[in-house]
Amino acid sequence: NEGSSLNVPAVMVFLVPFVAWNLGAFQFGRDQTGGAIGQGYGAVRMWSQLQDLFIALERAFFVLDLEPEVKSPDDPEPFPVAVEQLEWRTVDFAYEPSRPVLESLDLVADVGTITAIVGATGSGKSTLMSMLLRLYDPDQGAVLINGIDLKRLSVEDIRANTAIALQKNVLFTGSIADNIGYAIPNIDRDRIVEAAKIACADEFIEALDGGYDTELGERGVKLSTGQRQRLSIARAVVRDTPILILDEPTASLDAVNEQRVLSNLEQWGRQRVVFLITHRLSTIREADTIAFLEEGRIVELGSHDDLMGREDGRYRRFVQAETTGRAEVIRDD
Ligand SMILES: Nc1ncnc2c1ncn2[C@@H]1O[C@H](COP(=O)(O)OP(=O)(O)O)[C@@H](O)[C@H]1O
Ligand SMILES: [Mg+2]
Repeated sequence: NEGSSLNVPAVMVFLVPFVAWNLGAFQFGRDQTGGAIGQGYGAVRMWSQLQDLFIALERAFFVLDLEPEVKSPDDPEPFPVAVEQLEWRTVDFAYEPSRPVLESLDLVADVGTITAIVGATGSGKSTLMSMLLRLYDPDQGAVLINGIDLKRLSVEDIRANTAIALQKNVLFTGSIADNIGYAIPNIDRDRIVEAAKIACADEFIEALDGGYDTELGERGVKLSTGQRQRLSIARAVVRDTPILILDEPTASLDAVNEQRVLSNLEQWGRQRVVFLITHRLSTIREADTIAFLEEGRIVELGSHDDLMGREDGRYRRFVQAETTGRAEVIRDD
Protein backbone atom coordinates (compact mmCIF):
# COMPACT_ATOMS: atom_id res chain seq x y z
CA ASN A 1 0.00 0.00 0.00
CA GLU A 2 1.15 3.51 -0.69
CA GLY A 3 1.12 4.61 2.95
CA SER A 4 4.02 2.44 3.97
CA SER A 5 6.21 3.37 1.04
CA LEU A 6 5.86 7.01 2.05
CA ASN A 7 6.34 6.45 5.73
CA VAL A 8 9.74 4.82 5.74
CA PRO A 9 11.68 7.86 4.53
CA ALA A 10 9.33 10.01 6.62
CA VAL A 11 10.50 8.34 9.78
CA MET A 12 14.12 8.69 8.77
CA VAL A 13 13.87 12.37 8.02
CA PHE A 14 12.86 12.86 11.60
CA LEU A 15 15.40 10.45 13.03
CA VAL A 16 18.59 11.56 11.41
CA PRO A 17 18.97 15.01 12.90
CA PHE A 18 17.66 13.67 16.15
CA VAL A 19 20.09 10.78 16.30
CA ALA A 20 22.95 13.00 15.21
CA TRP A 21 22.15 15.42 17.96
CA ASN A 22 21.93 12.72 20.61
CA LEU A 23 25.14 11.16 19.44
CA GLY A 24 26.76 14.54 19.83
CA ALA A 25 25.66 14.69 23.44
CA PHE A 26 26.75 11.12 24.06
CA GLN A 27 30.18 11.64 22.55
CA PHE A 28 30.55 14.86 24.48
CA GLY A 29 29.73 13.07 27.73
CA ARG A 30 32.33 10.40 27.00
CA ASP A 31 35.01 12.90 26.13
CA GLN A 32 34.40 14.94 29.23
CA THR A 33 34.42 12.00 31.60
CA GLY A 34 37.64 10.61 30.20
CA GLY A 35 35.73 7.72 28.69
CA ALA A 36 34.35 6.56 32.03
CA ILE A 37 30.94 6.00 30.54
CA GLY A 38 32.29 4.22 27.53
CA GLN A 39 34.48 1.76 29.41
CA GLY A 40 31.96 -1.02 29.71
CA TYR A 41 31.79 -3.42 26.82
CA GLY A 42 28.05 -2.83 26.60
CA ALA A 43 28.38 0.91 26.19
CA VAL A 44 31.01 0.54 23.51
CA ARG A 45 28.84 -1.87 21.66
CA MET A 46 25.81 0.36 21.93
CA TRP A 47 27.88 3.27 20.74
CA SER A 48 28.90 1.35 17.66
CA GLN A 49 25.34 0.23 17.07
CA LEU A 50 24.20 3.82 17.19
CA GLN A 51 26.92 4.74 14.76
CA ASP A 52 25.77 1.93 12.51
CA LEU A 53 22.26 3.23 12.67
CA PHE A 54 23.45 6.69 11.89
CA ILE A 55 25.51 5.56 8.95
CA ALA A 56 22.62 3.52 7.63
CA LEU A 57 20.38 6.53 7.86
CA GLU A 58 22.91 8.77 6.21
CA ARG A 59 23.18 6.32 3.39
CA ALA A 60 19.42 6.31 3.04
CA PHE A 61 19.56 10.07 2.76
CA PHE A 62 22.17 9.87 0.11
CA VAL A 63 19.94 7.59 -1.89
CA LEU A 64 16.78 9.55 -1.28
CA ASP A 65 18.39 12.96 -1.37
CA LEU A 66 16.21 14.17 1.46
CA GLU A 67 18.72 15.70 3.78
CA PRO A 68 17.21 18.56 5.78
CA GLU A 69 18.90 21.87 5.15
CA VAL A 70 19.14 23.32 8.59
CA LYS A 71 22.29 25.36 9.01
CA SER A 72 23.66 27.94 11.41
CA PRO A 73 24.16 31.41 9.95
CA ASP A 74 27.76 32.42 9.19
CA ASP A 75 27.63 35.13 11.80
CA PRO A 76 25.08 34.05 14.44
CA GLU A 77 23.69 36.42 17.02
CA PRO A 78 24.47 35.63 20.66
CA PHE A 79 21.85 33.47 22.32
CA PRO A 80 19.71 35.60 24.69
CA VAL A 81 21.02 35.69 28.24
CA ALA A 82 17.48 35.31 29.55
CA VAL A 83 14.82 33.57 27.50
CA GLU A 84 11.64 35.59 27.93
CA GLN A 85 9.37 34.38 25.19
CA LEU A 86 9.07 31.79 22.45
CA GLU A 87 6.85 32.41 19.49
CA TRP A 88 5.63 30.57 16.41
CA ARG A 89 4.51 33.32 14.04
CA THR A 90 2.14 32.31 11.22
CA VAL A 91 4.08 29.11 10.65
CA ASP A 92 3.31 26.90 7.66
CA PHE A 93 5.06 23.60 7.38
CA ALA A 94 4.76 20.42 5.31
CA TYR A 95 6.98 17.35 5.08
CA GLU A 96 5.52 16.70 1.64
CA PRO A 97 4.25 19.65 -0.40
CA SER A 98 0.81 18.17 -0.92
CA ARG A 99 0.17 17.52 2.77
CA PRO A 100 0.34 20.59 5.02
CA VAL A 101 1.11 19.68 8.62
CA LEU A 102 1.09 23.14 10.24
CA GLU A 103 -0.97 25.99 8.78
CA SER A 104 -0.64 29.65 9.80
CA LEU A 105 0.07 28.50 13.28
CA ASP A 106 0.51 31.12 16.00
CA LEU A 107 1.68 30.33 19.50
CA VAL A 108 3.38 32.38 22.19
CA ALA A 109 4.83 30.92 25.40
CA ASP A 110 6.29 33.13 28.12
CA VAL A 111 8.96 32.36 30.66
CA GLY A 112 7.56 30.87 33.86
CA THR A 113 4.69 29.10 32.14
CA ILE A 114 3.86 25.50 31.30
CA THR A 115 2.07 25.08 27.99
CA ALA A 116 0.23 21.82 27.37
CA ILE A 117 0.02 20.91 23.70
CA VAL A 118 -3.13 18.87 23.20
CA GLY A 119 -4.37 17.19 20.07
CA ALA A 120 -5.04 13.88 18.39
CA THR A 121 -2.19 11.68 17.18
CA GLY A 122 -0.94 13.14 13.93
CA SER A 123 -2.22 16.65 14.63
CA GLY A 124 1.33 18.03 14.53
CA LYS A 125 2.40 18.28 18.18
CA SER A 126 5.85 16.75 17.77
CA THR A 127 6.41 18.63 14.54
CA LEU A 128 5.67 21.88 16.33
CA MET A 129 8.25 21.07 18.98
CA SER A 130 10.85 19.90 16.49
CA MET A 131 10.84 23.39 14.94
CA LEU A 132 11.99 24.82 18.24
CA LEU A 133 15.09 22.65 17.96
CA ARG A 134 15.50 23.54 14.33
CA LEU A 135 15.13 19.95 13.27
CA TYR A 136 12.97 21.64 10.62
CA ASP A 137 12.43 25.23 9.56
CA PRO A 138 9.03 26.71 8.73
CA ASP A 139 8.11 26.96 5.04
CA GLN A 140 6.45 30.29 5.85
CA GLY A 141 6.54 32.36 9.00
CA ALA A 142 9.13 32.05 11.76
CA VAL A 143 9.95 30.66 15.16
CA LEU A 144 11.42 33.28 17.47
CA ILE A 145 13.11 33.54 20.85
CA ASN A 146 12.67 36.99 22.44
CA GLY A 147 11.65 38.18 18.99
CA ILE A 148 14.83 36.88 17.32
CA ASP A 149 14.29 34.45 14.45
CA LEU A 150 15.90 31.11 15.30
CA LYS A 151 17.60 31.24 11.92
CA ARG A 152 19.75 34.10 13.20
CA LEU A 153 21.07 32.01 16.11
CA SER A 154 23.52 29.15 16.04
CA VAL A 155 21.91 25.72 15.92
CA GLU A 156 24.34 24.52 18.60
CA ASP A 157 23.31 27.33 20.97
CA ILE A 158 19.64 26.58 20.45
CA ARG A 159 20.10 22.89 21.21
CA ALA A 160 22.39 23.61 24.16
CA ASN A 161 19.58 25.68 25.65
CA THR A 162 16.79 23.19 25.05
CA ALA A 163 16.23 19.87 26.75
CA ILE A 164 13.75 17.31 25.53
CA ALA A 165 12.36 14.12 27.02
CA LEU A 166 10.60 11.70 24.72
CA GLN A 167 8.33 8.75 25.24
CA LYS A 168 11.01 6.38 24.00
CA ASN A 169 14.49 6.98 25.27
CA VAL A 170 17.85 5.33 25.11
CA LEU A 171 19.47 4.13 28.29
CA PHE A 172 22.97 2.77 28.08
CA THR A 173 25.02 0.32 30.07
CA GLY A 174 26.36 2.19 33.05
CA SER A 175 25.09 3.42 36.37
CA ILE A 176 21.82 5.23 36.88
CA ALA A 177 23.80 8.35 37.78
CA ASP A 178 25.73 8.15 34.49
CA ASN A 179 22.48 7.71 32.60
CA ILE A 180 21.02 10.86 34.12
CA GLY A 181 24.09 13.06 34.03
CA TYR A 182 26.00 11.97 30.93
CA ALA A 183 25.56 15.25 29.06
CA ILE A 184 27.29 17.26 31.77
CA PRO A 185 31.01 16.94 32.49
CA ASN A 186 32.01 16.24 36.09
CA ILE A 187 28.50 16.70 37.35
CA ASP A 188 27.92 16.67 41.11
CA ARG A 189 25.87 13.87 42.56
CA ASP A 190 23.66 16.48 44.25
CA ARG A 191 22.50 17.83 40.93
CA ILE A 192 21.67 14.35 39.70
CA VAL A 193 19.64 13.62 42.82
CA GLU A 194 17.86 16.95 42.57
CA ALA A 195 16.84 16.25 38.96
CA ALA A 196 15.75 12.73 39.89
CA LYS A 197 13.56 14.16 42.65
CA ILE A 198 11.86 16.55 40.23
CA ALA A 199 11.23 13.63 37.89
CA CYS A 200 9.88 11.50 40.78
CA ALA A 201 12.64 8.99 40.06
CA ASP A 202 14.54 9.41 43.33
CA GLU A 203 12.20 7.18 45.29
CA PHE A 204 12.58 4.09 43.08
CA ILE A 205 16.31 4.70 42.65
CA GLU A 206 16.85 4.86 46.40
CA ALA A 207 14.92 1.61 46.77
CA LEU A 208 17.43 -0.23 44.55
CA ASP A 209 20.32 -1.95 46.33
CA GLY A 210 22.94 0.13 44.57
CA GLY A 211 20.97 3.37 44.63
CA TYR A 212 22.36 5.82 42.07
CA ASP A 213 25.30 3.49 41.39
CA THR A 214 23.02 0.66 40.27
CA GLU A 215 24.19 -0.64 36.90
CA LEU A 216 21.72 -0.73 34.04
CA GLY A 217 21.94 -2.89 30.98
CA GLU A 218 21.95 -6.50 29.98
CA ARG A 219 23.60 -7.74 33.14
CA GLY A 220 22.22 -5.00 35.33
CA VAL A 221 18.85 -4.06 36.65
CA LYS A 222 15.87 -3.96 34.31
CA LEU A 223 13.56 -1.01 34.74
CA SER A 224 9.89 -0.69 33.93
CA THR A 225 8.81 1.64 31.13
CA GLY A 226 7.53 4.17 33.65
CA GLN A 227 10.86 4.11 35.49
CA ARG A 228 12.78 4.56 32.26
CA GLN A 229 10.58 7.51 31.39
CA ARG A 230 11.26 9.10 34.75
CA LEU A 231 15.00 8.73 34.11
CA SER A 232 14.59 10.44 30.77
CA ILE A 233 12.77 13.34 32.42
CA ALA A 234 15.57 13.57 35.01
CA ARG A 235 18.11 13.53 32.19
CA ALA A 236 16.37 16.48 30.57
CA VAL A 237 15.89 18.40 33.83
CA VAL A 238 19.50 17.98 34.93
CA ARG A 239 20.70 19.93 31.89
CA ASP A 240 19.20 23.00 33.54
CA THR A 241 18.20 24.64 30.27
CA PRO A 242 15.81 27.59 29.95
CA ILE A 243 13.60 25.58 27.56
CA LEU A 244 12.21 22.14 28.39
CA ILE A 245 10.06 19.96 26.17
CA LEU A 246 8.32 16.86 27.45
CA ASP A 247 6.95 15.01 24.42
CA GLU A 248 4.85 12.29 26.00
CA PRO A 249 7.55 11.00 28.37
CA THR A 250 4.85 10.57 31.00
CA ALA A 251 2.73 8.19 28.93
CA SER A 252 3.61 5.20 31.11
CA LEU A 253 3.38 6.99 34.43
CA ASP A 254 0.22 6.68 36.44
CA ALA A 255 -1.93 9.79 36.75
CA VAL A 256 -0.74 10.51 40.29
CA ASN A 257 2.95 10.40 39.38
CA GLU A 258 2.43 12.44 36.26
CA GLN A 259 0.78 15.14 38.32
CA ARG A 260 3.55 15.05 40.90
CA VAL A 261 6.12 15.54 38.15
CA LEU A 262 4.13 18.47 36.81
CA SER A 263 3.81 20.19 40.16
CA ASN A 264 7.56 19.75 40.72
CA LEU A 265 8.16 21.30 37.33
CA GLU A 266 5.95 24.25 38.20
CA GLN A 267 8.39 25.15 40.98
CA TRP A 268 11.47 24.39 38.93
CA GLY A 269 10.13 26.12 35.83
CA ARG A 270 9.69 29.61 37.25
CA GLN A 271 12.53 30.96 35.11
CA ARG A 272 11.91 28.66 32.17
CA VAL A 273 9.57 27.90 29.33
CA VAL A 274 8.11 24.40 29.58
CA PHE A 275 6.07 22.47 27.00
CA LEU A 276 4.25 19.31 27.90
CA ILE A 277 2.60 16.94 25.48
CA THR A 278 0.29 14.48 27.16
CA HIS A 279 -3.14 12.93 26.71
CA ARG A 280 -4.01 12.86 30.36
CA LEU A 281 -6.69 15.33 31.28
CA SER A 282 -5.87 15.51 34.97
CA THR A 283 -2.44 16.87 34.02
CA ILE A 284 -3.49 19.03 31.09
CA ARG A 285 -5.86 21.03 33.23
CA GLU A 286 -3.01 22.06 35.53
CA ALA A 287 -1.01 23.74 32.76
CA ASP A 288 -0.98 27.55 32.57
CA THR A 289 -1.93 27.48 28.91
CA ILE A 290 -3.52 24.79 26.80
CA ALA A 291 -2.90 24.88 23.07
CA PHE A 292 -5.49 22.73 21.37
CA LEU A 293 -4.21 21.55 18.03
CA GLU A 294 -6.39 20.29 15.21
CA GLU A 295 -5.10 19.52 11.74
CA GLY A 296 -2.05 21.71 12.12
CA ARG A 297 -3.79 24.74 13.59
CA ILE A 298 -4.14 25.91 17.14
CA VAL A 299 -7.89 26.18 17.29
CA GLU A 300 -8.07 27.17 20.95
CA LEU A 301 -5.62 28.67 23.39
CA GLY A 302 -6.12 29.46 27.05
CA SER A 303 -6.31 28.02 30.55
CA HIS A 304 -8.52 25.04 31.35
CA ASP A 305 -11.11 27.34 32.90
CA ASP A 306 -11.04 29.75 29.93
CA LEU A 307 -11.55 26.97 27.47
CA MET A 308 -14.20 25.19 29.51
CA GLY A 309 -16.13 28.45 29.52
CA ARG A 310 -16.60 28.34 25.75
CA GLU A 311 -20.04 26.95 25.06
CA ASP A 312 -19.20 25.23 21.80
CA GLY A 313 -15.50 24.89 22.49
CA ARG A 314 -13.44 22.14 20.90
CA TYR A 315 -11.43 21.61 24.06
CA ARG A 316 -14.61 21.48 26.10
CA ARG A 317 -15.97 18.81 23.79
CA PHE A 318 -12.72 16.88 24.09
CA VAL A 319 -12.94 17.02 27.88
CA GLN A 320 -16.54 15.87 27.84
CA ALA A 321 -15.73 12.99 25.53
CA GLU A 322 -12.83 11.98 27.75
CA THR A 323 -14.78 12.09 30.98
CA THR A 324 -18.04 10.56 29.82
CA GLY A 325 -16.79 8.07 27.24
CA ARG A 326 -13.76 6.15 28.26
CA ALA A 327 -12.67 6.73 31.82
CA GLU A 328 -9.24 8.30 31.98
CA VAL A 329 -7.88 5.38 33.92
CA ILE A 330 -8.17 3.21 30.84
CA ARG A 331 -5.42 5.22 29.20
CA ASP A 332 -2.99 4.67 32.06
CA ASP A 333 -1.20 1.67 30.63
N1 LIG B 1 9.30 12.94 9.22
C1 LIG B 1 8.09 13.00 8.70
N2 LIG B 1 7.90 12.91 7.37
C2 LIG B 1 6.66 12.98 6.81
N3 LIG B 1 5.54 13.11 7.51
C3 LIG B 1 5.66 13.20 8.86
C4 LIG B 1 6.93 13.13 9.52
N4 LIG B 1 6.73 13.23 10.86
C5 LIG B 1 5.41 13.36 11.02
N5 LIG B 1 4.76 13.34 9.84
C6 LIG B 1 3.32 13.52 9.61
O1 LIG B 1 2.99 14.83 10.05
C7 LIG B 1 1.77 14.82 10.76
C8 LIG B 1 2.01 15.34 12.17
O2 LIG B 1 2.82 14.41 12.87
P1 LIG B 1 3.34 14.65 14.34
O3 LIG B 1 3.89 16.01 14.45
O4 LIG B 1 4.23 13.53 14.70
O5 LIG B 1 1.97 14.58 15.16
P2 LIG B 1 1.70 14.28 16.71
O6 LIG B 1 2.98 14.46 17.47
O7 LIG B 1 0.63 15.25 17.08
O8 LIG B 1 1.19 12.88 16.78
C9 LIG B 1 1.25 13.40 10.69
O9 LIG B 1 0.37 13.32 9.60
C10 LIG B 1 2.49 12.58 10.45
O10 LIG B 1 2.18 11.40 9.76
MG1 LIG C 1 4.09 13.17 18.70
